[in-house]
Amino acid sequence: MGIWMLTTLVLTRGYAGTLMSLLAVRHVRQPYHTLMDVLDDPEVIQIWQKNSANEQLLRSVTSGIYREVMNQEELGLLIFRTQGQLSESLTSLVKPGGHVLIDVDVTVRNLIAGIFSQSGRCDYFVSRDGFLPSYGVVASQKGNPLIPAISKRVMQLTSSGIFEYWFEKQIPNSTSCLITPSTVVERVPLSLASLWGVFVMLAAGLTSSVIAFCLENFITYFS
Ligand SMILES: *[C@@H]1O[C@H](CO)[C@@H](O)[C@H](O)[C@H]1NC(C)=O
Repeated sequence: MGIWMLTTLVLTRGYAGTLMSLLAVRHVRQPYHTLMDVLDDPEVIQIWQKNSANEQLLRSVTSGIYREVMNQEELGLLIFRTQGQLSESLTSLVKPGGHVLIDVDVTVRNLIAGIFSQSGRCDYFVSRDGFLPSYGVVASQKGNPLIPAISKRVMQLTSSGIFEYWFEKQIPNSTSCLITPSTVVERVPLSLASLWGVFVMLAAGLTSSVIAFCLENFITYFS
């Protein structure tokens, strides 16, 4: 009787646990966090901005990771879209899957915020790793004595975080999709189809309990 109860207990707990986790959360896959993650995937297509400094960089490097990125073009895994086409590329290519958009952080966040303002949904995640640092600078005549003073102010402005502040103030909903959770609470109504695994678990559990019960009786009977 002891083994039978134990088996039943384990299987019931397993079944309840599976049911609970199935009802509560849905896991969101976030497969790309570095440029290397993207290159390691032999199927994903990268979208870079057409006619940009980044395109120029890709087309001019002769070695290293950006050369590897450029080599993807022959394989059909690298495409270029103009800045005006990026938002549409996100909704029509990145959202269905199979594509990633690679651009300057503020550009990507701006696009995601714009889409959120229209749809109210955060359908994208931004990689943890950043690369291609991009700076805004003040240029002046060579030898201008004001340059050291200007440089100091630029450094102060940068470290004060004012650019980030302006970005948040100017772009509506700019912070709405910054933290994309890796699990989301499921709100869609459950259908029988999405619960098939649970029924398989239940059937398997009941079958194993019956077998365990019979075995137990069998052993007791013959000993
Ligand atoms: C921010 O997003 C919400 C939800 O999509 C939208 O209703 C609202 O108009 C957006 N705010 C602005 C200023 O666009």
